[in-house]
Amino acid sequence: MIVTARFDELRNVRSSLPGPLGLVPTMGYLHKGHISLIRRAKAECASVAVSIFINPTQFSPSEDLGAYPLDPDRDLAQLEAEGVDLVWTPTKTDMYGPHFQTWVEVEHLTKSLEGSMRPDHFRGVTTVVTKLFNAVQPQIAYFGQKDAQQAVVIHRMTEDLNFSIEIVICPTVREADGLAMSSRNLYLNPEERKAATVLFRALSAAKSSFDRGVSDSEMLRAQLQKVLEGEPLAKVEYVSIADLDTLEEIVGEIDRALISMAVRIGTTRLIDNVIVGD
Ligand code: PAJ
Repeated sequence: MIVTARFDELRNVRSSLPGPLGLVPTMGYLHKGHISLIRRAKAECASVAVSIFINPTQFSPSEDLGAYPLDPDRDLAQLEAEGVDLVWTPTKTDMYGPHFQTWVEVEHLTKSLEGSMRPDHFRGVTTVVTKLFNAVQPQIAYFGQKDAQQAVVIHRMTEDLNFSIEIVICPTVREADGLAMSSRNLYLNPEERKAATVLFRALSAAKSSFDRGVSDSEMLRAQLQKVLEGEPLAKVEYVSIADLDTLEEIVGEIDRALISMAVRIGTTRLIDNVIVGD
């Protein structure tokens, strides 16, 4: 496994790797969710590259970038064990030089849901993912359904900007009690950790109602709210039942939808989602 922070070395190693090359972009502090993306890439690609970069431009000033967890030694040991070929670990100054002023922005899809709470977040994500795509030049890139809006936005960007890269979205990996794996789960104390299962409980309740024939979006929204209100430690930021392509809220009957939410448990902000319909 080659590990490099340097762009010229990345380019050299990249050109010697057999294709197709799969890329898994990450911000490090790897857990089983990230590993599932890497395993899928290993199964489908001749070579696999992973990037580790805590991207400052997707954090708002009120979010504590400095507190983002990191453990590079453990990350690299996991990547080595998974048989990854290339790890790119650029520094902040490699990525954003002093004269940096070029941004990639997806317009409408980034305004709702996470975008309504985190206004510049997706501009940071799409800009850094473009830079990662251009630097690594993969044929396939792997993202998680856990960040559902990010997945939709990256699909849109890839098509709109004619990147010749296939985007693969992998299922959300969960703890045994349903909590979606996330580096933020680390911030939960034992009481909050128990309360955090409320996201999955609410999503599962809505999904089973839908599967039993309840297709009215208002009834499902009310059910989601009711489960969430039953958890005193949970503070809801949004609950959404949206069209999977436009991410606009669905009014009335649903045949397919992205049900998603952001909930604070104490000071920790958690997101989760489920797709209903086929
Ligand atoms: P990060 O949060 O490190 O996540 C890296 C990838 O792992 C993303 O595609 C994310 O959706 C996926 N992932 C996270 N938790 C998951 C889970 N429980 N199950 C399945 N996949 C999961 O997302 C980012 O980094 C950044 O925004 C990035 C795309 C790297 C751009 O900076």
